[in-house]
Amino acid sequence: MSVDLAKPIDRKSKASRPVLECMQGNILKAHHRRHTALLLISLDSKPGTRAAFREFAGKTVTSAWEQRQQSLRRHENGGTELFGNLFLSVWGYLKLGYSWEVLRTAFFDREADDQFLNWFLQGMEHTGWALADPPRAEWEPQYQQRTDSMLLLACSDPKKLEAAVDAAKSQISGFGSVLGEERGRSYYRDGHAVEPFGFADGISQPRFFADDPEPVSPLTVLLPDPLAGRPDAYGSFLVYRKLEQNVKAFHEAEKAIADTLGLQGADRERAGAMMMGRFRDGTPLIRSCTPLGPSQANNRFDFRRDPDGARCPFHAHIRKVNPRPSQRKPMARRGVPYGSYDPADAQATPPERDCGLLFMSFQRDIHVQFGALQMHWINSADFPRPRTGQDPVAGQGNVATIPKWPLKWGDASAGTMECAVSRMVRLKGGEYFFAPSLPFFQTLGV
Ligand code: HEM
Repeated sequence: MSVDLAKPIDRKSKASRPVLECMQGNILKAHHRRHTALLLISLDSKPGTRAAFREFAGKTVTSAWEQRQQSLRRHENGGTELFGNLFLSVWGYLKLGYSWEVLRTAFFDREADDQFLNWFLQGMEHTGWALADPPRAEWEPQYQQRTDSMLLLACSDPKKLEAAVDAAKSQISGFGSVLGEERGRSYYRDGHAVEPFGFADGISQPRFFADDPEPVSPLTVLLPDPLAGRPDAYGSFLVYRKLEQNVKAFHEAEKAIADTLGLQGADRERAGAMMMGRFRDGTPLIRSCTPLGPSQANNRFDFRRDPDGARCPFHAHIRKVNPRPSQRKPMARRGVPYGSYDPADAQATPPERDCGLLFMSFQRDIHVQFGALQMHWINSADFPRPRTGQDPVAGQGNVATIPKWPLKWGDASAGTMECAVSRMVRLKGGEYFFAPSLPFFQTLGV
């Protein structure tokens, strides 16, 4: 009996096993390891690459089914089991011998019905104009060459992870080379993962299993793997972007906004919340003018009771990316901080560079989900209404509109004050990938 992926998956049912065994983990549920390594791989164009890559995938990729078994074992005995994902860019598929014609047919964007909109086939560099990305020449050196494949390894034990990275590198030398690598690390405060600006992250995520709260269809992020040759094999598009965060500039912007509005004492914390839409502990700004504690880091709110943006400004990050109740098709965000700065450590000096987010999101359609969000909502000064201003956290590109900040929380009649904030997040490199199904890797040996 096959599983209907239009509905949330009942993972306790035996019927769900085959489809979960065919799919990579981390798509429907985060792997939840503290340490992550990313290896950027260039594949050799030579006979034997396909078979060696297939063998490597067989040893490194963790299926969604196995991820679930690991998680059950972890609840029993703690656990430091290794987790692995392997992704391919369009350049990687070409190196593995697939022609443009085959790839165009396979990854034809049925929703957009337009090849031009197939961002996966274009690659991140070539969609940069639409996203106001800096040109590739300004990306970090390890992103100057095209990445064919990316390996994600994750483990809660950093020594075990490094040993696995060394072993992976020696295997990769048999069919390619490592262009560069990244390390991600999750930081926690009060049980919540924290991103470098110091805000609780990972609160609002689509959920896909029947026993999750308010689950949605897994087809929000999955599509049939067009090159696997099996109907029960699914994959997902991955957007990967290394986003450097200038934490010092964020703190300076908070001070400038608080000074402009004349906020005093504990009220000054509202300045950062007005940029993010939540306080650092995750309390939604729409619900309270002060943080209410980590137990309030939830999604039980929308913006209908704030038609003037007097509680939560329209340009605040979470209001831009999800102007509840109307929403774009959600992505599954799987990003992880990089750099040694611990945002949960109040004594640490806020850095200007070398820290940020290894942004990763899974989706069914890159253009419709990630692309439209960044282009039409985050970067646009006129969304959701004219002269709103850009998203101060994730916005890119030059926009003249200076954002307006409410003088008094919840009181539109008190008016607003303008205060410009500088760009705090910069793209340092990235690529669009596909997370192929496990049966796809098997076909490479044939
Ligand atoms: C370094 C840059 C970024 C930082 C520091 C950041 C930080 C955050 C934080 C703290 C939250 C609230 C916690 C949560 O609901 O999980 C959040 C939510 C979110 N972010 Fe970002 N983000 C960044 C970039 C982006 C980008 C580039 C996108 C999409 C293109 C994005 C999309 C979202 C979405 C969809 C949500 C959930 C909003 C909701 O449903 O309420 N973020 N982000």
